[in-house]
Amino acid sequence: MSYSVTIQGWDQAVTVEMGQTILEAAIAQGVPYPHGCRSGNCGACKSDLIAGEVELAAYSEFALLAEEKSAGQILACRAVPWSDCEVALIQEVDRKVFASRVLDCAVTGIEQATHDIRIVRMAVETGGPFDYAPGQYAQVTFPGLPTRDYSMATPATGDTLEFHIRLVPGGAVTPYVQNELAVGSKVRVEGPLGTAHLREAHRGPVLAVAGGSGLAPVKAIVEAALAGGATQPIHLYFGVRGERDLYMEAHFAALSAQHPNLTFTPVLSEPDGATGRRTGYLADAVAADFSDMDGFKAYLAGPPIAVETTVEQLRAGGMRRRDIHADAFYTEADKAKLEGVA
Ligand SMILES: Cc1cc2nc3c(=O)[nH]c(=O)nc-3n(C[C@H](O)[C@H](O)[C@H](O)COP(=O)(O)OP(=O)(O)OC[C@H]3O[C@@H](n4cnc5c(N)ncnc54)[C@H](O)[C@@H]3O)c2cc1C
Ligand code: FES
Repeated sequence: MSYSVTIQGWDQAVTVEMGQTILEAAIAQGVPYPHGCRSGNCGACKSDLIAGEVELAAYSEFALLAEEKSAGQILACRAVPWSDCEVALIQEVDRKVFASRVLDCAVTGIEQATHDIRIVRMAVETGGPFDYAPGQYAQVTFPGLPTRDYSMATPATGDTLEFHIRLVPGGAVTPYVQNELAVGSKVRVEGPLGTAHLREAHRGPVLAVAGGSGLAPVKAIVEAALAGGATQPIHLYFGVRGERDLYMEAHFAALSAQHPNLTFTPVLSEPDGATGRRTGYLADAVAADFSDMDGFKAYLAGPPIAVETTVEQLRAGGMRRRDIHADAFYTEADKAKLEGVA
């Protein structure tokens, strides 16, 4: 038993087998359907259901708000048709789509940025050039280990990559990165993925919010905006627990000396003692500093709790969902929780 799903703007209808999601079938049949996590967490596959019935498997409300669902939107990666359907991709003028590539890379440099974050640099050996929009991520596979998502930390160069990888105790991949990865190691990188990327046409103020290794995509976004001649205010907030978790401060101090429209504000949630720095949670720091965010765009990345609470704060402050571009770094534990198996 199968259903026929028409995707507006795509000539050929897609055949979706019973139990299959629209996204699975579309990708298998060569449709370049926008997507990211494939697990109902990121919102990249959000679409309008124009006609027909689908059942939505478990998803994060961060990816599809209740009011979006009520307005007839679905997540294609969670949508299993119960009838023939018609869907339309959410159109956004400034959204970038690149051909997916599979790259063979070699590690060229490793830097211990903090006690638990390593900056890993790689050269693309085959499969390049690698083009992506700043803020996007890729699926990274270290030899013999499961694939994980990591965000590119610089604007695209074509043949080099930088990732910031934070140790997650008990994880399958990050203990290896922290303790064993060496210069010369081979790595497979596939992508790019994700829609939380820089919107180049935006001329209004920018709020860039990073928690921990979420600095990686936010750094790429800020660097690309400045390199592209952005003159509007760019407010970068970097949330970490304590002093020992801060990194790249000198880099952003130099960048803001060069570009006075950039402000860089570290925020410590668990300071070790008296400090001259901002303290508290990212969401509260942003709420304290901005009462009116009309005309802003926000980019956010990092631990789900930091991203989700700040997004809620921005929405409570009246910011439109379409001006908020966020990647929460969900781990396997978060995904298992969503599926109800943890
Ligand atoms: C879009 C996106 C971009 C990302 N970008 C970055 C980035 O730039 N930098 C970065 O550091 N991270 C990033 N991440 C997070 C990254 O993909 C990994 O999730 C993270 O590095 C942990 O990987 P791991 O294999 O070490 O841990 P995992 O094996 O995923 O384990 C994580 C935790 O979950 C537990 N766990 C594992 N499996 C289960 C299960 N089935 N049930 C319950 N608990 C379980 C483990 O014990 C551990 O505590 C990103 C994530 C996403 C979704
Ligand atoms: S690809 Fe569907 S929510 Fe991420």
